[in-house]
Amino acid sequence: MKQVIALNVNGESREVLAEPFAALVDVLRDGLGLTGAKKGCGKGNCGACTVLMDGKAVNSCLVLAVDAQGRRITTIEGLYLLRPPGEHANRLHPLQRAFIQHGAVQCGFCSPGMLLAAAALLEENPIPTEAEARAALEGNLCRCTGYQKIIEAILSVSAPR
Ligand code: FES
Ligand code: FES
Repeated sequence: MKQVIALNVNGESREVLAEPFAALVDVLRDGLGLTGAKKGCGKGNCGACTVLMDGKAVNSCLVLAVDAQGRRITTIEGLYLLRPPGEHANRLHPLQRAFIQHGAVQCGFCSPGMLLAAAALLEENPIPTEAEARAALEGNLCRCTGYQKIIEAILSVSAPR
């Protein structure tokens, strides 16, 4: 039987009716209309459904929505809210701008998950090595880019400016 689930998503309190066994990715997409998180494998293997939970990257297909209550959820729709202080309110997050500038997006299916995994990495390790960046993204699959442009985009943001 469906129950009310209260979530904090992108800084807003949201309530949604969902089955107790519903995965967070399904509740975000179908219940809240936040379709940026993609459902690829549904088994924790592709990273397309990555969101931030209290700042850590998680596969939202493996998290029960009920267990996400009381946690801070950030989806790609809210990534811009994590811009560094002082950035203009209408600007994308620096990682999003870098992905565009470096041609790191092709079909775009992996991009929300890639961006959020990268954001979690830079939060924990602001100046990662290339090897560290590749390791942080190893759970996020991309069929299009060959990964190189994605890594270049991330390192361009992490480089001291
Ligand atoms: Fe969640 Fe693939 S859909 S890891
Ligand atoms: Fe197509 Fe990554 S850009 S899967």
